[in-house]
Amino acid sequence: MTVNITVLAGDYIGPEIMAAGLKVLAAVSEGQNFDYQLHEMPFGGAGIDQTGEPLPAETLQSAKQSDAVLLAAIGGPKWDGVPQTPEHGLLAIRKALNLFANIRPTEISPAMQKYSPIKNTEPVDFVIVRELTSGIYFGKPRETTADYALDTMRYTNEEIERITRVAFDMAMKRRKHVTLVDKANVLDTSKLWRKIVAQIATEYPDVTYDTSYVDAASMKIIASPSQFDVILTENLFGDILSDEAAQTTGSLGTIPSMSRGTDGPSLYEPIHGSAPDIAGKGIADPISMIRSVAMMLTHSFNRADLATEITDGINQTVAAGVVTPDLGGKATTDEMTKTIINHIKESRHSYEPDHV
Ligand code: NAD
Ligand code: IPM
Ligand code: MN
Repeated sequence: MTVNITVLAGDYIGPEIMAAGLKVLAAVSEGQNFDYQLHEMPFGGAGIDQTGEPLPAETLQSAKQSDAVLLAAIGGPKWDGVPQTPEHGLLAIRKALNLFANIRPTEISPAMQKYSPIKNTEPVDFVIVRELTSGIYFGKPRETTADYALDTMRYTNEEIERITRVAFDMAMKRRKHVTLVDKANVLDTSKLWRKIVAQIATEYPDVTYDTSYVDAASMKIIASPSQFDVILTENLFGDILSDEAAQTTGSLGTIPSMSRGTDGPSLYEPIHGSAPDIAGKGIADPISMIRSVAMMLTHSFNRADLATEITDGINQTVAAGVVTPDLGGKATTDEMTKTIINHIKESRHSYEPDHV
């Protein structure tokens, strides 16, 4: 069987890191009975340049017909002031595929420990479960007049319920601890989240459930990140906290994500943006993209075995200090990617049974 993957390379460093991710995908699937076909489609700024729209109809069609979508990053100064921005395209594809659950893991592996700005004594391994298709990103009314601008934060019971179940189900497979992050001391939407999440928590007696206000949570992510297992939060808070959490690994350029709905293809992308400041220099950190490929192999294609080979390859590479400048190294995107691929190949070679 051949699976179909829609590939959205996007803008600025997007194509650079996508190339790295696809090279690793090709290397890790070689001879492993995993056949795939790539469908490279215009999206974001590249979509605007090629078709006038950030999410061209053919791109959405391809995504809907695929088994998974791989996205690098979109946006940047080139499209400042256009009526439909690359970011509109990103929000539109999330909505159109009903990708309401965005999973953003923060893990500081032993190999990454030396790059972390945090002096941890305990392991850091938590997941942010971010609501992705509602809240202030999508609420109506939304308008700008001569005198004011208006955004609306709105959540329905059902929107909160479905993301809450994702978080608790995930906690059951992890360390059984969910922390709801909100601003329930001020916002009505947060008060509703607290009410609904507390109700659902009673269905999961094995899960420890607690809450934190978002301002304090942002402190705790720095002060004691090991206390978290699953952080459940609304769209905007999840956006902000996940960049903060990412930096505890040493760089925003290391964290992947999965966005999923109830059925249909999931979408995998780094949590960071198109990094216009380093684009074209060949020094973008490919880890976030390569780990997004690994997440795709695990969650869309049931190939955790291949994902583990990728993760091991990354760990060996960073342990050896072959890292890009964001992590303080001198390696280029290409050198890092080649080193990861070499580790994958070498470890396969050394485990090959002897044929006599
Ligand atoms: P950014 O995440 O692109 O960059 C922030 C900083 O982190 C920059 O200094 C950048 O060089 C660095 N960085 C990010 N990824 C890196 C990597 N892989 N390797 C090394 N360094 C890396 O955020 P920004 O500069 O605020 O936004 C730039 C554009 O990206 C904007 O148009 C924004 O809307 C867009 N954006 C897109 C996505 C997405 O496609 N999912 C996500 C976030 C931002
Ligand atoms: C992200 C990005 C997007 C978001 C932007 C580019 C619309 O920051 O994926 O984290 O805010 O969701
Ligand atoms: Mn973001």
